[in-house]
Amino acid sequence: MGVSAWLSIADLGLTEGGTRIIDAATLDLCAQRSVVLGPNGAGKSTLLRLIHGLLHPSGGRLDWPRPLSQAMVFQRPIMLRTTALANVEYGLKLKGHAAPERGRRAAEALARVGLGNISHRPARLLSGGEQQRVALARAWALEPELLILDEPTASLDPASSREVERIINEIAAGGTRILMTTHNLGQAKRIAEEIIFIDRGRIVEQTAVAQFFTLPQTEAAQRFLQEETP
Ligand SMILES: Nc1ncnc2c1ncn2[C@@H]1O[C@H](COP(=O)(O)OP(=O)(O)O)[C@@H](O)[C@H]1O
Ligand SMILES: [Mg+2]
Repeated sequence: MGVSAWLSIADLGLTEGGTRIIDAATLDLCAQRSVVLGPNGAGKSTLLRLIHGLLHPSGGRLDWPRPLSQAMVFQRPIMLRTTALANVEYGLKLKGHAAPERGRRAAEALARVGLGNISHRPARLLSGGEQQRVALARAWALEPELLILDEPTASLDPASSREVERIINEIAAGGTRILMTTHNLGQAKRIAEEIIFIDRGRIVEQTAVAQFFTLPQTEAAQRFLQEETP
């Protein structure tokens, strides 16, 4: 395990119905902002879900030198049938925060994502971009040490994407570790310190961001960049 790793993954595997979805993944996470890239079906979402504890591995280990509080944001936000504010408060309630503090923190988090003025609207009537910002506020309000995001802008228009990106960078600036996937290579460049490249369930490359986009080490990554670059 690297001295500064906040998570060490060793031989992690997930097999479903005889198919290896994640194949002996070994990886030290040290960077504050890591972006996982790879073709469709490579296993990116599965890896993030294993790390967040939403899936149980078939083998291998996740070693947390110190347990980190974490939150996860998905491509499609799941909104409760209530106001934006109550959605954020609910996340705090689940974590055991007391009522008066919940309201204050939820309102603060919504203001930070630029939704202070519509916090009393029904969350499900907000636009996709606004709902994703509510989801980010819900995560941010918990002040997690690690925020995991699975394609958080994949369903959004470019303007909403940039807004979500700005929020992610602001959360990172507060010291939260970021581990995310995206289909948007420009976004990966703007957010990541390092790229973890995964292909057919295998981690094939872990490289500093500047190097990944100029001199990827593996043929699989070179092919991926050629196909993804317009
Ligand atoms: N519960 C499951 N059972 C069987 N196959 C699955 C399951 N979840 C994902 N897969 C398959 O595993 C592969 C990786 O999926 P996923 O992690 O969603 O990839 P990515 O996020 O990189 O597109 C895909 O081929 C997908 O169809
Ligand atoms: Mg995915």
